[in-house]
Amino acid sequence: MSDGRSRLVVLNGANLDLLGERPAVHYGTITLPALERLVSDEAERLGWDCICLQTNHEGVYIDRVHEYRHEAALLVNPGAWTHYSYAIRDALELVSCPIAEVHLSNISAREEWRRISVISPVVSFTVSGKGPEGYLEAVRRLIVLAGV
Ligand code: DQA
Repeated sequence: MSDGRSRLVVLNGANLDLLGERPAVHYGTITLPALERLVSDEAERLGWDCICLQTNHEGVYIDRVHEYRHEAALLVNPGAWTHYSYAIRDALELVSCPIAEVHLSNISAREEWRRISVISPVVSFTVSGKGPEGYLEAVRRLIVLAGV
């Protein structure tokens, strides 16, 4: 918490720093700074604080999940780790607040290996294939779920 306001923590994972250069057919053309600005503005519009972090290092991602596990809400897009990282799955299991899993692309309509999310069983809900709007939908749903 800061200034008495609830805080949303947004954790983007591997390769999401290069949004804007990645295949537009899946991820559109938005850059990570622009996406983070959109998400922060939506959270702030609803009276929440928001911090956005990105890393390409799985261990650092896990450290951030540990660090923020008792915030008011987490929004996670672990990138490709979604599909195989039981370590991130186990870290998310320790989180005490609502968690949204968000993917810009529709992972259930892509390659076979992307259709599996090992984190889905431990999150509150998943939004996939709605681009940046999916992040905004997740912010709104998290704030309702957090109920603070
Ligand atoms: C992604 C989907 C993943 O399969 C991929 O590895 C990503 C991004 C998405 O936002 O659509 O890096 O999580």
